[in-house]
Amino acid sequence: MRYEIDVNGQRHGVDAPADMPLLWVLRDLVGLTGTKYGCGVAACGACTVLLDGQAVRSCQFPMEQYAGQKVATVEGLSPDRTHPLQLAWIAEQVPQCGYCQSGMLMAAHALLREVPRPTDAQIDAAMTNLCRCGTLPRVRRAIRRAAGMAPA
Ligand code: FES
Ligand code: FES
Repeated sequence: MRYEIDVNGQRHGVDAPADMPLLWVLRDLVGLTGTKYGCGVAACGACTVLLDGQAVRSCQFPMEQYAGQKVATVEGLSPDRTHPLQLAWIAEQVPQCGYCQSGMLMAAHALLREVPRPTDAQIDAAMTNLCRCGTLPRVRRAIRRAAGMAPA
């Protein structure tokens, strides 16, 4: 079936089955590979993108559930890596292998859109993404930095 989707402010026409998860539409049909496949069962958060501003796990969203909503992926954060979260991630040297990090950035982006200066408890509640390299303490510091708070 033919769908029109809005990704990072650009319209794309895609031919996809109604049950094709957004993750694969983004990666295979739109060509945006920043969003990663980790577990495929909504457990790890590697595939996190924003749907109308809310963080969602794109491996679990079939096309028929999100047609018409605005999708934001890591590629859309900034054209030149100057989004406050990207600068904070670099300043705190957050990534190790990097595999989970686009999902982390999008979860953090959704959090700061909703709560511009989150408490540590709010950060911990929002950042349920898994990182097998153990970067979560640096993720927290980077979120605080991006929010204009002293990194803890
Ligand atoms: S790949 Fe979607 S949550 Fe793990
Ligand atoms: S940086 Fe390697 S899994 Fe998170």
